[in-house]
Amino acid sequence: MRIGIIGLGYVGLPLAVAFAEAGHQVVGLDVDAAKVEALNAGVSHVEDIPDAALAPLGERLRATTAYADLAACEAAIVCVPTPLTDSREPDLAYLEQAASSLAAILRPDQLVVLESTSYPGTTRERLQPILEGSGLATGTDFHLAFSPERIDPGRTDFTIRTTPKLVGGITDACTERARDLYAEICDEVVVLSTPEAAELAKLLENIFRSVNIALVNELAQLCDRLGIDVWEVIGAAATKPFGFMRFEPGPGMGGHCLPIDPFYLAYRARQLDFYPEFIELAGKVNQAQPAFCVERIERALNEAGKPVNGSRILILGVSYKGGVGDVRESPALKIIGRLQDLGGDVAYHDPFVAELPGHGLASVDLEPGLAEADLTAIVTAHPGTDYADVVARARQVIDFRGVTRGIEAANVTRL
Ligand SMILES: NC(=O)c1ccc[n+]([C@@H]2O[C@H](COP(=O)([O-])OP(=O)(O)OC[C@H]3O[C@@H](n4cnc5c(N)ncnc54)[C@H](O)[C@@H]3O)[C@@H](O)[C@H]2O)c1
Repeated sequence: MRIGIIGLGYVGLPLAVAFAEAGHQVVGLDVDAAKVEALNAGVSHVEDIPDAALAPLGERLRATTAYADLAACEAAIVCVPTPLTDSREPDLAYLEQAASSLAAILRPDQLVVLESTSYPGTTRERLQPILEGSGLATGTDFHLAFSPERIDPGRTDFTIRTTPKLVGGITDACTERARDLYAEICDEVVVLSTPEAAELAKLLENIFRSVNIALVNELAQLCDRLGIDVWEVIGAAATKPFGFMRFEPGPGMGGHCLPIDPFYLAYRARQLDFYPEFIELAGKVNQAQPAFCVERIERALNEAGKPVNGSRILILGVSYKGGVGDVRESPALKIIGRLQDLGGDVAYHDPFVAELPGHGLASVDLEPGLAEADLTAIVTAHPGTDYADVVARARQVIDFRGVTRGIEAANVTRL
């Protein structure tokens, strides 16, 4: 098959590679000419796709900025961003732009699949009318379905192939086309009755995580008051072999999904005069977590007789999760910003993030970074870091990820 992938980011590029590895001819399209040029030169901008994975694909994966290059494709999969506006409402501008460009080259018999996360109704109410602006009718002239991406950047135990794929088409024929397409790269394709059910299933997955993370974050704040070790409590509860699922507290939620997607559903619910309490409450608790971490940093410095103002604070890890360089919505950015506002002399070390221009910072070396800092705050735990060594070299450590558990040292405090 000839398959077009629109939007070559964290979702689109791994998908493009999966189809090319399965022997298909893939045309990857992105509006970012620099990404397109780099990919055609064999250079990947996504950590999960090393350059070495691109090389063997040769001509099976070509990148372009021209929508006309998708005209010959049997299927086009849309993986563009779906962020929030400044007023925290769905921003479907990227999606609508991609849909308009696609409508201009849409051909009979093509299959269009939306993978970008959005609220139930997006495929039918927002995407379909734009594509039908081409003069072609859904279900007869072309096919349209929604299939949510479930990728978890940095995860290696589950792959695109081994993660079941949900599909829901506008018509039965649409669903069948989408099922056959994904059967090429996924061991299991789960068919849903409508795109709306598939759209909502994706949101449920993310809201489930958001709510449970909020629950343990709130518990961490309570444990701080109670003087109980939250990690010990969660570890103990997790020994129950049924009816409990382990979630870990931390500095707050980041990335392009958890802090954003639940608000897509809240927006849709409000249109129906329905106010989903869990979503809003979880968002509120998780968004307050960086401020709680700053308070803990203030207290830790205070115990050493130091104010934030003028103290050297080293932040270890600034991406939103370990093993990736993505800083979108990362709680580390809020923590750094607040500490800078308070007059802190903030530095950071992150092997995945070379610089944070918005904060006027570039990653410093761990040594002498650790030795120079009055306090080192572990905000994001990247794999491969030796935390016993960090504790041994640092003057004072505050750990928001629980990675120093088991290390006995007087200079460590934990969330
Ligand atoms: N990152 C994740 O872990 C993840 C997981 C599951 C689902 N999702 C969802 O997938 C979608 C994409 O997320 P992402 O993380 O890959 O985003 P991303 O920002 O990494 O990539 C999106 C790409 O789309 C390109 N783009 C923007 N407008 C375009 C247009 N009109 N035409 C063509 N290309 C365009 C951008 O240049 C960018 O390269 C979002 O809806 C997101 O919620 C993301």
